[in-house]
Amino acid sequence: MPNFASKSFYYLDYNATSPLSDKVVQNWNQALDLWGNASSIHWAGRKSKLLLRETRQKLAEILEISPLELIFNSGGSEGNNTVIKTFSDLVSASSIRKEFITSTVEHPSVRKCFEALQEQGHVVHWISVDKNGNFDFAGFKKVLSEKTLLVSVMLANNETGTIFPIAEIAKLAHANGAYVHADCVQGLGKIKLSLKDLDVDYATFSAHKIGGVKGLGFLYQKKGTPLKNLILGGAQERQRRGGTENNLGIWALSQCLDQLRNIEHTYLDIKAKRDHLEDLIKQQISGCVFNCSTGERLPNTSSMIISGVDGETLLMSLDLKGYAVSTGAACSSGNPEPSPVLLAMGFSRAEAQSSLRVSIGFNTTDEVILHFVETLKEVVTRIRSINSQDNQVLSS
Ligand SMILES: Cc1ncc(COP(=O)(O)O)c(C=O)c1O
Repeated sequence: MPNFASKSFYYLDYNATSPLSDKVVQNWNQALDLWGNASSIHWAGRKSKLLLRETRQKLAEILEISPLELIFNSGGSEGNNTVIKTFSDLVSASSIRKEFITSTVEHPSVRKCFEALQEQGHVVHWISVDKNGNFDFAGFKKVLSEKTLLVSVMLANNETGTIFPIAEIAKLAHANGAYVHADCVQGLGKIKLSLKDLDVDYATFSAHKIGGVKGLGFLYQKKGTPLKNLILGGAQERQRRGGTENNLGIWALSQCLDQLRNIEHTYLDIKAKRDHLEDLIKQQISGCVFNCSTGERLPNTSSMIISGVDGETLLMSLDLKGYAVSTGAACSSGNPEPSPVLLAMGFSRAEAQSSLRVSIGFNTTDEVILHFVETLKEVVTRIRSINSQDNQVLSS
């Protein structure tokens, strides 16, 4: 944690990004030797090529797939764009399969691709999600047909932490002959993730959510499925993604892989801390409702609505006290509009504007949680008291 002079800073926004893992920080000197181009056939490229091969191999073992089904890229947004744009190009006037299915709570890198498709005249079915985070299975079954080309649904929601039943969705979609893509960015490093079990055709990942660096991710493409190369260029990644590979990013990712192997242990530890955080808030702060807390959700995420408190004001007050939290997705920070995800789930604008997301991670201690709840209580009490004074002035 940064400690600028006397003030302490606490990071509770792991769904936006994570700090670099301790191993990346400690071993960074090793990476400095990896400047060679992995495509070079001389000595300078050999180490980089080996790093790529080993990291791909280890990742494939963890995700239970074949190494050649993995493509390194720049992150989740690129992966999502690549998959969806592959299929928009596949639709032809003569094909029967022309329709797309997604959910109403996807990350903007998926949502905006489908909005663009819709503007071009393609049929996109948006499956709704209720206030408890439940995917509308009945609605999904209704629109799934022999016309469906691609089903694209996220594994875990970045704002509420809700986990969708991807394996069941994939089974139904495959039975109808459709391809399936899962945005797995928020699932990696937080829950056990086997692509063999999920049985999707494409899955997208990002390294900066698990202690790696920004600008590095990877895409799973099941053998035999179509893929449009979004970035034309060199023959990297078996002609599937042009551009000299990000060796330093891939090295950093390689340092984060051990934590993916012990995920059951990490899951329980983080879940216990998150549950403790919610218990403390319930005991100490009135008017807090936890979103999607009854269904399956990520162990690190707590999404809540705090009545009578504006989320942006709360966020800024907590920031001044050294706490980094979020009112919605990080990409919408600086945007006073309420979270589109919460609105799509049926929350009112006022409720969505009073939302707070706390997402903890491998560096969060019990002590930080305790202090955070004390600070939250103090800040919420102060904001509510100012609001009630303002209301009295207005009504007098
Ligand atoms: C669910 C989800 N998908 C995709 C992304 C985009 O990933 P990246 O930042 O690597 O582009 C994010 C980032 O927050 C995310 O939460």
